[in-house]
Amino acid sequence: MEQYVIKGGNPLVGEVEIGGAKNAALAILAASIMADETVTIDNLPDVRDINVLLGAIQEIGAIVDRVDAHTVKINGSTISAMSVDYEYIKKIRASYYLLGALLGKYKRAEVALPGGCDIGSRPIDLHLKGFRALGAKVDIQHGLIAAEAEHLKGTHIYLDKVSVGATINIMMAAAMADGKTIIENAAKEPHVVDVANFLNSMGAAIRGAGTDVIRIVGVEKLHKTEYSIIPDQIEAGTFMFAAAATRGDVTVKNVIPKHLEATTAKLLEVGCEVEEFDDAVRVVCAKPMHHTQVTTLPYPGFPTDMQPQMAVILGIAQGTSTVTESIFENRFKYVDELTRMGATIKVESNIAIITGVERYTGARVSAPDLRAGAALVIAGLAAEGITIVDDIYYIERGYEHFEEKLASLGAQIEKVSSEKEIQKFTLKVS
Ligand code: EPZ
Repeated sequence: MEQYVIKGGNPLVGEVEIGGAKNAALAILAASIMADETVTIDNLPDVRDINVLLGAIQEIGAIVDRVDAHTVKINGSTISAMSVDYEYIKKIRASYYLLGALLGKYKRAEVALPGGCDIGSRPIDLHLKGFRALGAKVDIQHGLIAAEAEHLKGTHIYLDKVSVGATINIMMAAAMADGKTIIENAAKEPHVVDVANFLNSMGAAIRGAGTDVIRIVGVEKLHKTEYSIIPDQIEAGTFMFAAAATRGDVTVKNVIPKHLEATTAKLLEVGCEVEEFDDAVRVVCAKPMHHTQVTTLPYPGFPTDMQPQMAVILGIAQGTSTVTESIFENRFKYVDELTRMGATIKVESNIAIITGVERYTGARVSAPDLRAGAALVIAGLAAEGITIVDDIYYIERGYEHFEEKLASLGAQIEKVSSEKEIQKFTLKVS
């Protein structure tokens, strides 16, 4: 089992390059199998979830040619199986995108019920409601979701809750349905737009992505394309917050500043400076930070995927702050770990009440999920002394070369896999 070992206290300074958006890439990879020609996808993040999904895509018979770490060519003309029960796929949430993609293309799909980070109950009723509305028969049996239709027929779908996954999944199936589909109360996240742009580049007819009404006219076939994935707004936000927590000065490059507005707004509120460029943002945080309130909301609101990182900042900001989690009910599992590093946080229902302390103190902590794991690393970078973060498997699901990028900004962090290596690091930095 690997760990991160961190000696905190160094302000992060310098420039860091952000990779492609994991959550856009997962959906785009699944959608790529809908063409019978070769699709080239660039700016792919080289992270665990992506590699697991590529394994599953290969397993069902598609040709997957990994040109390099960030580029893949996929050809879906050789798909032979409609059933995805790949051993690892259950562990990634985005496996459900193969349902929409296979159902749209072949009108038939069987996919293992998805797992993913344990951040609360994660139903997929809205996805299934959408498929049924398009005319599919959907059953759940033996841990598999099976969907089948003679024809998919365009329809009007209202989503009771704003869901990124359901919006994308329904959009994929509807892209190859007969006639026109309208999705109302659609998610507006940048990656929803990116998936729509990708499908359109393959010949789909999708309008309105990025607003709450998406209109899709089904087409019979999708064709080859070359596509570059948008930058990861959550990876970018994580580095922006790491800069703030360590009182650093970091320029985060290869981003779309518009996608970072909610993150930037909170940094300004706590007293940091944020300078925006065409495709970069610079965060400088020299003065003491102060308290604020934040509530997670669907885009363009403050992202739930930045909630733990925000709490880490507020834990060392002056005064009392509140963080309200309105998307997932179980996303405060890092609070006990952060408390062990000296934070003063009380959770009442879906609200964390945080009283800022002067500094964190290094401790041994476990990453409970992907974003919370990244947040604990940020706390370690800001802490006095040595922090060891266990279970970094979660962090590697979504952050590419996390420790290397942080080290390039002056962080003292190493990936280790034994107590001996931890001791060696401790001796080196003391
Ligand atoms: C996506 O999850 C992301 N995952 C999550 O990223 C992210 O936290 C989330 O969107 C919100 O932005 C991927 O893209 C693979 P939702 P998803 O459907 O699609 C409820 C990360 O760290 N809901 O938008 O599963 C649901 O319970 C991760 O990268 C239903 O009730 O999220 C939640 O309360 C973790 N029924 C809300 O909607 C459904 O059928 C939003 O969930 C679907 C969702």
